[in-house]
Amino acid sequence: MEVVVVPTKKDGSELVGGAIAELLTRNPEAVLGLATGSTPLGVYDDLVRRHNDDGLSFAQAKGFALDEYLGLPAGHPESYRAVIQREIADRVDFAAGSVHGPDGWAADIAAACTDYEEAIDAAGGIDLQILGVGTDGHIGFNEPISSLASLTRIKTLTEQTREDNARFFDDDLAQVPTHVLTQGVGTILRARHLVLLAWGENKAEAIQATVEGPVTSMVPSTALQLHPHATVVVDEAAASLLGDREHYKWTYANKPAWQGV
Ligand code: F6R
Repeated sequence: MEVVVVPTKKDGSELVGGAIAELLTRNPEAVLGLATGSTPLGVYDDLVRRHNDDGLSFAQAKGFALDEYLGLPAGHPESYRAVIQREIADRVDFAAGSVHGPDGWAADIAAACTDYEEAIDAAGGIDLQILGVGTDGHIGFNEPISSLASLTRIKTLTEQTREDNARFFDDDLAQVPTHVLTQGVGTILRARHLVLLAWGENKAEAIQATVEGPVTSMVPSTALQLHPHATVVVDEAAASLLGDREHYKWTYANKPAWQGV
């Protein structure tokens, strides 16, 4: 695992935008794993800027969302399908039909989950997966005690996560769905590069556990420790509880330039 401590969210977003631009330049057909929530928004803004100013193209790339709410009307602005379209897909030049998400409106939810796994496989797997982290350590919507080998399936949100996400639903807990479809921890671990981002003090405990705690399904983000290429990009506040923070900073500042992130 590599931990990159950046001064600000903007620096981290640009760093990750740069890594994605480099991937797309090397492999224009790259498959991107797209997260929703607040954390990746700066990365999407950075990618849009690179698309507009530098001609970065997504025309041959594909995207797969991590998760989707169940129970929202189709087209609801906070459905993750709508969020992904609004925040990134519609702002760059992805080809029509090349950005996918789990189908939270399917009549057969179990089949929709299997189909999603198959679609990711058929695309050749995810090259770079962007991840946020919940205050309880969830990745995707894999809440505590999610199997670390799990695949795309239905999950129940914890009260904590629903409270955290109420800000997207007029601060009204009653409007926040209770169930979701999410890529499993095992699905996420199959991506070739995991890039987990966290900003702000309220993520500091989750980041400390992710990086320095024992691997446990109680904190699903600790599964990153099992991945051969995981990068954790955090601002100073999110890094504030890391015991070896200064060592991670020194390591990053002194790594060989050819390594990239
Ligand atoms: C979103 C997702 C979640 C969020 C997490 C953090 O697709 O899978 O794991 O990344 O809930 O959310 P924010 O970024 O809003 O703090």
